[in-house]
Amino acid sequence: MKGMFLTLEGVDGAGKSSHLEWLAAWFRSRGRVVRMTREPGGTPVGEKLREIVLHEPMHAETEALIMFAARREHIERIIRPALAAGEVVISDRFTDASFAYQCGGRGLAEARLEVLEAWVHADLQPDLTLLFDLPTEIAARRLATARSPDRFEREEADFHARVRAAYLRRAERHPERIRVVDGSQGLEAVRAQLLAILESLP
Ligand SMILES: Nc1ncnc2c1ncn2[C@@H]1O[C@H](COP(=O)(O)OP(=O)(O)OP(=O)(O)O)[C@@H](O)[C@H]1O
Ligand SMILES: [Mg+2]
Repeated sequence: MKGMFLTLEGVDGAGKSSHLEWLAAWFRSRGRVVRMTREPGGTPVGEKLREIVLHEPMHAETEALIMFAARREHIERIIRPALAAGEVVISDRFTDASFAYQCGGRGLAEARLEVLEAWVHADLQPDLTLLFDLPTEIAARRLATARSPDRFEREEADFHARVRAAYLRRAERHPERIRVVDGSQGLEAVRAQLLAILESLP
């Protein structure tokens, strides 16, 4: 079987993690081997970098470079080998998140990240990206009851609005792989949208 690379995107609290297991189960029920992973992280080095980037104050470019450094390792050690073995790789965030957070949120030029993207994975893109989209006030309300916030989650409301807008621009630019899901609905309704997308896959 051919490997498949699926990524989940959206602002903090959009519902990515809530649907990860369900998505994996759907693919397993179809006989696929599933590898679930996340960014930043997914490898021993990546998880250490995740701790740093989520909690230590730093320059926006340092942040972007760390994200891509962790990604380089992730692709080499996890993503490519799993795809080569014919597995379905589901990653909670990937490069679209860098464009959304570091460009949309922090204001870095997209050209900067395009250089890193070409360096780190010129010949690899997700086959499918599910973008969980919702008003950021709803996401913030959901997160408020969930857990203690990291460096990104503590950002002002405007930051999250810019991240959301950057994600939507990205979806407009890559309609061939990015599918926007209305994440403001209840869990069951969101799941129904996901199912419709999965069932429409070639
Ligand atoms: N459709 C939904 N309706 C109501 N609550 C939801 C819905 N989806 C997720 N939640 C709740 O919202 C909170 C955030 O969801 P989740 O952790 O899945 O978001 P996330 O996109 O993974 O966020 P992060 O980027 O911070 O990891 C959780 O407490 C979850 O139970
Ligand atoms: Mg999550």
